[in-house]
Amino acid sequence: MAKDKDIEKMEKLTSLLKRRGFVYPSSEIYGGFAGVYDYGPTGVELANNIKREWWRIMVQGRPDIVGLDSGIFMHPKVWEASGHTSGFSDPLVECKKNGKRFRADHLLEEIGVGADEKMSEDELNELFEKHKKDIKCPECPDNEFTPVKKFNLLTESNLGTTSNSGPSYLRGETAQGIYINYKNVLDTTNQKIPFGVAQIGKAFRNEISPRQYLFRTREFEQMEMQFFVRPEDEMKYYDEFKEYRFNALVELGLNKKNLKWAPHENLVFYATKADDIEYKFPFGWGELEGIHARGSYDLTQHQKHSGVSLEYFDQETNDKFIPHVVETSGGVGRLFLALLADAYDEEEVNGEERIVLRLNKNIAPVKVAILPLSKKDELTSEAKTIFNELKDSFVCAYDETQSIGKRYRRQDEIGTPFCITIDFDSLEDKAVTVRERDTMTQDRVAISDLKKYLEEKFS
Ligand code: GAP
Repeated sequence: MAKDKDIEKMEKLTSLLKRRGFVYPSSEIYGGFAGVYDYGPTGVELANNIKREWWRIMVQGRPDIVGLDSGIFMHPKVWEASGHTSGFSDPLVECKKNGKRFRADHLLEEIGVGADEKMSEDELNELFEKHKKDIKCPECPDNEFTPVKKFNLLTESNLGTTSNSGPSYLRGETAQGIYINYKNVLDTTNQKIPFGVAQIGKAFRNEISPRQYLFRTREFEQMEMQFFVRPEDEMKYYDEFKEYRFNALVELGLNKKNLKWAPHENLVFYATKADDIEYKFPFGWGELEGIHARGSYDLTQHQKHSGVSLEYFDQETNDKFIPHVVETSGGVGRLFLALLADAYDEEEVNGEERIVLRLNKNIAPVKVAILPLSKKDELTSEAKTIFNELKDSFVCAYDETQSIGKRYRRQDEIGTPFCITIDFDSLEDKAVTVRERDTMTQDRVAISDLKKYLEEKFS
């Protein structure tokens, strides 16, 4: 349970993220649309930086992993083969009074009763019935619910389907796009087992109760990588990727003390092993990313349902087998939220509160803010010249509104590592003041040295 201090932090963070153009609720002018968020001008820069860093570490930094961008829509049989049409569900109950839908396992969790993901409808109903008197509707004083029903999370569409051919689906995970292209990648690149395929893209789940802000949404982005290995090597690569991904999150700026491993206690029937990296969000520990040893399940299923052989022929050992898969799977939105929660800081400066996002400099949405001290032409034209000189090397912001103090605060609140102030002395000494975000220390730097100075700071 989150403490008052944590709830307050979450409220302050959410309000900052709206105020500073990171995140907007979807369709706000129409009263909102649950489970979907829009990323504003600052948010899209941060999200792009997170994805770029992931791609650098997972694809460009490794000769044994290649990238992919598969369609959001796939043949409906993909979801039959993967087991999503039959088994990708959460337990749902409806409040009899207000008709609102809730996850039965979440209501049980709130009164301290754990429900196992693998439980059947009957088992869940029995458990729910047993604790019925303690369970209250989160939105009204009633405690009368409909029986627990498994609710499929795939989002249906009618794209390209006719009235009698059943629905097509928006993908529930990006991983399936990788499995169905495994053979294409193998045939068109020089990759040999062991190798991986990575992709970043949108996924959709009809979550029963989207909650905790960006943590559980109906539309979100995943960053997934499937590593295809010889069966006997699965555990070796599993352990390697556990370490690799954990270190990557720390390198991106997350504090180690807010991260922990959470092994899956109830594995899905095909999985060999699964561990989640959890982050201590202000509302409590929650899954940030999963590392899964999936055996040969996915490729075997697609081979069976498509009739196309997905066996691998190993020229060195002269044997054939269906590769096993080690998966790393994380969400952009959850990492975005974790990085912001970790970076959020408040301090008192000269009797006033300063809010600052101490983000890793390389993922900050804006790298350098260029601030002429006043709107006088001679200062703004010098400032615009500096903007033009730096804009191809760093994401720059230009701001000439309000007092310099207010402009510094605004940049602190979006985590801009450096502010450059052009004052009247700059016209004489051809130098500017560079203020550093975390320490607020100021350096006087010659305009001709600015680019080099900043490159060194970001290196
Ligand atoms: N291919 C495996 C897979 O999709 P998952 O645990 O269901 O596994 C992986 O999802 C990651 O995707 C999670 O760790 C989380 O970061 C993100 N994710 C899943 N459901 C989400 C949701 N409803 N909202 C936001 N992110 C979600």
